[in-house]
Amino acid sequence: MKGIILSEFVEFLEETVGPDHAQAIIDNSGVSSGGAYSRVGRYDYQELIQLLTQAVTDTEHDAAFLLQSFSDHLFSVFKRDYQVFFEGVSSAAEMLSQIDNHIHVEVKKLYPDAELPKFEYRSDGQQFTLDYKSPRPLAAVAHALVNACIKYFGNRETLVSYNIADDQCAAKFVIQLS
Ligand code: HEM
Repeated sequence: MKGIILSEFVEFLEETVGPDHAQAIIDNSGVSSGGAYSRVGRYDYQELIQLLTQAVTDTEHDAAFLLQSFSDHLFSVFKRDYQVFFEGVSSAAEMLSQIDNHIHVEVKKLYPDAELPKFEYRSDGQQFTLDYKSPRPLAAVAHALVNACIKYFGNRETLVSYNIADDQCAAKFVIQLS
């Protein structure tokens, strides 16, 4: 996993619980990198899961809250650092339909060692369906990023249902268009 994601998780933790508590969570998590992430470095994606799990143990927040707040934070970082992907995009469905054939393609050019999931989408009238597949069990991250994307575009679309595979490596999201 690229360091940009992990360093933003640390940044998010520092903002949410303060730098000292964030450092204690990193220390308690036992991540093998020690938690000092370079944005362009590459780390085991398990470190994200380890940090999140430790944050649940060491704070009063549950996993869903932490993952959603982190994803909202990450989405605003994407907007700040990769504005080009937001230009001319006016809805969540439009953005989600571009992840696989545009956004992540460009991400892969910028960071050839990025490990990206696969997304497929289809539109059927007012219904938009997004399928996630990855060798990594990050479906909950995909779910939270879908929510963040809908929120970013003003909650005009609604995630009406979703289904996450037991192994967390696949998910289906059904979005009602506005
Ligand atoms: C400007 C928009 C976006 C940028 C710049 C971006 C960039 C990235 C980067 C750098 C990674 C890390 C790759 C690695 O760890 O090696 C990543 C992973 C990921 N992205 Fe995006 N992304 C964007 C939008 C989205 C959106 C809208 C979704 C919504 C579902 C999404 C879903 C994911 C997921 C789930 C992963 C984790 C990897 C996995 O599941 O295997 N991304 N993205």
